[in-house]
Amino acid sequence: MEANATERPGGSQAPDMPAHVAIIMDGNGRWATQRGLPRAQGHRAGVEALRRTVRAAGDIGIRYLTIYSFSSENWSRPQSEVLDLMALLKRFIRKDLADLHKNDIRVKIIGRRDDLAPDILALLVEAEDLTRDNTGLTLVVAFNYGARDEILRAIQRVAEAVGECRIDPAEIDEKMVDRNLDTAGIPDPDLLIRTSGEQRISNFLLWQCAYTEFVFLPVYWPDFGQDELTAAIEEFRTRERRFGGLVANTGS
Ligand code: IPE
Ligand code: IPE
Ligand code: MG
Repeated sequence: MEANATERPGGSQAPDMPAHVAIIMDGNGRWATQRGLPRAQGHRAGVEALRRTVRAAGDIGIRYLTIYSFSSENWSRPQSEVLDLMALLKRFIRKDLADLHKNDIRVKIIGRRDDLAPDILALLVEAEDLTRDNTGLTLVVAFNYGARDEILRAIQRVAEAVGECRIDPAEIDEKMVDRNLDTAGIPDPDLLIRTSGEQRISNFLLWQCAYTEFVFLPVYWPDFGQDELTAAIEEFRTRERRFGGLVANTGS
């Protein structure tokens, strides 16, 4: 190891393993349609894939797993589908929270909270409170999340501090922005996986993915599991991360 090796934003221990993997779990609807099933069945199968993935991430030794479960734009779907997705989230937390806690998983929720139904908000807070001191995998659930909304809320907080003369605009730096995002304290993702074949970011972690490696997989989310996660990580390990600089000569 070079003595002057630059600090890696992801903060991984092993240089070629991702500490933080983020996933856009996409393709539930198409998975169901392909089988002649209602879209809700695809979402249900998606929860099974999530369980498999959380288990696999823990086994592999990933420190942070962020999952995009409902975007601020997903409210524009038909009301029946929105209701299905809300019911699934509630069921997931009620059924799986005890297991997550037993497995030393720390749950953290990101996204806007002030317009959530009180029963959903209470469950999210319960999941965070119960698992706050756990030291295993951190499972970051992006719910009612949109990166532009998150950045706007951060700007509003910083602007308030300027307005109240608590800070000078010249003091605003990247660290201050980081601290005011929902992801404060969480390292940036090293690897972002999107399933379903779409190759776009759909308003996910726009600030945090500045130097994240992207892997797009042609499988629908309900078909995702340990093998697909391992394959994405293998792909990640072949990438040469530069962070705008030059790659250190490894002597090979
Ligand atoms: C991802 O699957 C789940 C959510 C967005 C909540 P989709 O529901 O987007 O499935 P497709 O993209 O329509 O197939
Ligand atoms: C992104 O998928 C959001 C989640 C997976 C929760 P979408 O299906 O909403 O994204 P678009 O509409 O295809 O860009
Ligand atoms: Mg989709």
